[in-house]
Amino acid sequence: MSKKTHITLKVNGKSEEFLAEPRELLIYTLRERLNITGPHIGCETSHCGACTVTVDGKSVKSCTMFAVQAEGAEITTIEGIGTPDSLHPLQEAFKEHHGLQCGYCTPGMITRAAKLLEENPAPSEEEIRFGMAGNICRCTGYQNIVKSIQAAAAEMNSSQSSSSEAVGHKTTEAAE
Ligand code: FES
Ligand code: FES
Repeated sequence: MSKKTHITLKVNGKSEEFLAEPRELLIYTLRERLNITGPHIGCETSHCGACTVTVDGKSVKSCTMFAVQAEGAEITTIEGIGTPDSLHPLQEAFKEHHGLQCGYCTPGMITRAAKLLEENPAPSEEEIRFGMAGNICRCTGYQNIVKSIQAAAAEMNSSQSSSSEAVGHKTTEAAE
């Protein structure tokens, strides 16, 4: 048996510490060791994107990374994006615009889309399709996924502009 390595990482804001063999894949660390089962296993060969998480600010297919490579990293999974009582705008939009059917690809889709909108808050349809190309869906035909991401982007941009307007209004009032 190979020597185990001491690993520390932070998942959805919670620190985790454990010993793992060098061959342990991050997706298994998340699902089987830490019981974080949002990221799914679709192909285990880096094709489907069902296992997508964010590692230190980058979208990563967690079946392509060893746990030891994530030493010291901050990881966000679908469990760290919104809550049942307070859904992320992407989760609301996927629900509203039928961006899912069986839902197997959805945790990876939303985690990837959240990163995409962080990098490009107002993507064109082409940019969405290009940015989501690593995530495969067997059910929806993608049209409603694109529509959901566009709707979430519009919602996030309008709530951001109304909150900056409110700040601007307060600043003007304070100056008067
Ligand atoms: Fe990781 Fe498919 S399970 S890309
Ligand atoms: Fe079924 Fe995407 S909703 S795989």
